[in-house]
Amino acid sequence: MRFKALIAAGLASLLALSACGSDTAPTTNDTPAGGETTAAQGTEGGAGGDVGVFTWWAEGSEKVGLEALEKRFKETFPNDNFVNLAVAGGAGSNAQAKLEADLQNNNPPDSFQGHAGAELFDYIQAEQIVPVNDVMDELGGANVFPQNLLDLISVDGDIFSIPSNVHRSNVAWVNPEVLDKAGVSHDAPADLDAWIADMDKLKAAGVETPLAIGTAPWTQVHFFESVLLAELGTDAYNALFADGDWKDAKVASAVSKYAKLLSFANTGGADDWPQATDMVIDGKAAYNVMGDWAVAQFNEKGKVDGEDYLYWPTPGTDGTFLFLADSFTLPKGAPNTEGAKDWLRLVGSAEGQKDFNLAKGSIPARTDVSVDDFPPYQQSAMESFKNDKIASSIAHGAATSNAWKGEIQAAVSGFWTNKDEAAFVDALAKAAENFR
Ligand code: GAL
Repeated sequence: MRFKALIAAGLASLLALSACGSDTAPTTNDTPAGGETTAAQGTEGGAGGDVGVFTWWAEGSEKVGLEALEKRFKETFPNDNFVNLAVAGGAGSNAQAKLEADLQNNNPPDSFQGHAGAELFDYIQAEQIVPVNDVMDELGGANVFPQNLLDLISVDGDIFSIPSNVHRSNVAWVNPEVLDKAGVSHDAPADLDAWIADMDKLKAAGVETPLAIGTAPWTQVHFFESVLLAELGTDAYNALFADGDWKDAKVASAVSKYAKLLSFANTGGADDWPQATDMVIDGKAAYNVMGDWAVAQFNEKGKVDGEDYLYWPTPGTDGTFLFLADSFTLPKGAPNTEGAKDWLRLVGSAEGQKDFNLAKGSIPARTDVSVDDFPPYQQSAMESFKNDKIASSIAHGAATSNAWKGEIQAAVSGFWTNKDEAAFVDALAKAAENFR
């Protein structure tokens, strides 16, 4: 099927991202020839009218990230009226259903947040979004965005959406004071088994919940994808979305280790990611595996990098950047197409990407925003994105369509309740059969 082939091609490009070095990774200080660094194109001051922007950046540090973009948008396009249509719920857990209904009822916002990769191909295939080649050309196209990222948002030369940022999924956030209670080293454990051994020590020293996790199913998918990556390795993990075998013994051992790790986690008390990350911030847990939007929350709460919190790639995944990217669309039938394009111009500008990513914890999708402008966490993420292997996130639309993700999430949720490892593996294999 044509779209499946496109997704496979897109993912192949993504894998090639890591092989491209500093020419394409978004970490250089170079301003490529032809690259525009200003957002002030289109009609001077903006096209005018309401510009309704749909995201799930409604609360906490994510809201702060959106506000940084909003502020710059208002300054750059004073004629436009930003209308915040955000729907709360991490990873779009509530927003995506509302968006789907709105799109089906021909009631689209002016722009909405999507994920580069398989998820975006859903919207393209359903003809719910239209190309934005003109805006991308103004911004500088492949001179300022990595070609292989463009491949994840393009079909037949048409570019659908403007990427705002790149996030890393496989990060363990760590409270060093809690580790000290059990004399556990601050260094990253070498692999999942070493990590499990440290959790045993923490438990024995009286730390009730070494690991924090949300009860929201997506937070469990988020954790599971890191464990799967750790156990399979990058190539076998990535192959799962093409022709890899979900019945492989390594998937079963990943599930067993996931079960073991969950035995060290809270079973309630933290709903979405902010509450789970707060358990680490507040010293109620030692670890939380969360995307790097979490760093914004540590910073928002005045915590100091290297003193109050540490971070490592999820044990067993060092050397791999588990990738996702937010990308803003132009829906078919958007009420204010020209205003929406102003928003896209801002999102894709160097200034917009700097303001936004500083607040959001992610790294710019553009290649011409200086590394030196960013604090140590983002510098480390830029370094990893430039040099490491790349794997694509399930929980955040890079590897799987929304429908496939939904089935994986149902399997993960079922396992949270019944702890039936064989049934979990079967459900994962069935989901792959249904969707690839
Ligand atoms: C992801 C999104 C991130 C962040 C995260 C948590 O899907 O790409 O930007 O918002 O969800 O809500």
